[in-house]
Amino acid sequence: MNTFETHRQLFDSHLENYKADVNLRSPRELYEPEHYILSLGGKRLRPLLALISCDLFGKDPSHALNSALCVELFHNFSLIHDDILDEAPLRRNNPTVHTKWNTNIAILSGDVMLVKAFEVLKNYDAKEFSQLFSIFSKTCIEVCEGQQLDMNFENTNSLTVDEYIQMITKKTAVLLGCSLQMGAINSGASKIDQEHIYEFGKHLGIAFQLLDDTLDAYATDEKSFGKQIGGDILANKKTFLVLKAFELAKVEQAKKLHELMGQTKVVPDKKIQNTLEIFNELGVKALCEAEADKHTKIAIDHLLKVSADRTKLKALETFSLALLKRNT
Ligand code: IPE
Ligand code: IPE
Ligand code: MG
Ligand code: MG
Ligand code: MG
Repeated sequence: MNTFETHRQLFDSHLENYKADVNLRSPRELYEPEHYILSLGGKRLRPLLALISCDLFGKDPSHALNSALCVELFHNFSLIHDDILDEAPLRRNNPTVHTKWNTNIAILSGDVMLVKAFEVLKNYDAKEFSQLFSIFSKTCIEVCEGQQLDMNFENTNSLTVDEYIQMITKKTAVLLGCSLQMGAINSGASKIDQEHIYEFGKHLGIAFQLLDDTLDAYATDEKSFGKQIGGDILANKKTFLVLKAFELAKVEQAKKLHELMGQTKVVPDKKIQNTLEIFNELGVKALCEAEADKHTKIAIDHLLKVSADRTKLKALETFSLALLKRNT
């Protein structure tokens, strides 16, 4: 992940300028959480993708800085609200906004970030703005749909892998595709290149979420993971791991898994440990990684169809493969 350091620095300084403005606004209760979450770091994956894509299609990446800011603001808004939905205590190794302040503040500060994500696009000329607006608003709606499906699935028992993939495509993958497509729009790329770079990002995003689910269960160092390990198990999230476990379980194992998911008064560590035991007996971690590999390959196939400088394409491929080896 050490490549594209200049893109990262370019974005960091743009974000610092934006944060300086956030610091001047009031009421402070609304803006402090925005400043807080934007100061906790994170991989800055989506803005990097926007800048990389703009560069890939031959324009100075600085032209995509407001697209980059737009997707990072939206992403951080979605994290604040996601942590309310998931009742998550930790984000980027720090207290989540709703636990540090309260849920009302987390809702409102998230709302204002969502609006600002759109507002920063006003700096582009009318033609570019209209194309950016179109893909970005479509993506925002899909992310909300994906998040609702994720919540619905907590209380649904017979789910297929296809339904799960559709859900993660919406909640996570389309935003990666969108970030790349926005950079491509900024660069004036052809429609066909926009499509391939979008599909590349989408399948990379599916692999990314499959691995996020694996890390949620299997990360060993909470400090570097930055989130509560086992949070998905405690919230009864229907991850690929759970679906595969039910598919492969013998009667006894399925019964045990159902019991674990039905427990309301639980000792968290016990629920996580017992669930992991079943996952391990059935070898579902390797299956999840194999599914992620499948989507990584589809992603790379799309990338190979993009008409752009070969060296730059290779750099993006290397960056993506490194991303999927992450432990944070
Ligand atoms: C977290 O995204 C939400 C998911 C889609 C899994 P990231 O893992 O990109 O979070 P940060 O921005 O690096 O903290
Ligand atoms: C993230 O899904 C999706 C969005 C934030 C839209 P998760 O709930 O798995 O993300 P983390 O693990 O909390 O980052
Ligand atoms: Mg979450
Ligand atoms: Mg969630
Ligand atoms: Mg997760």
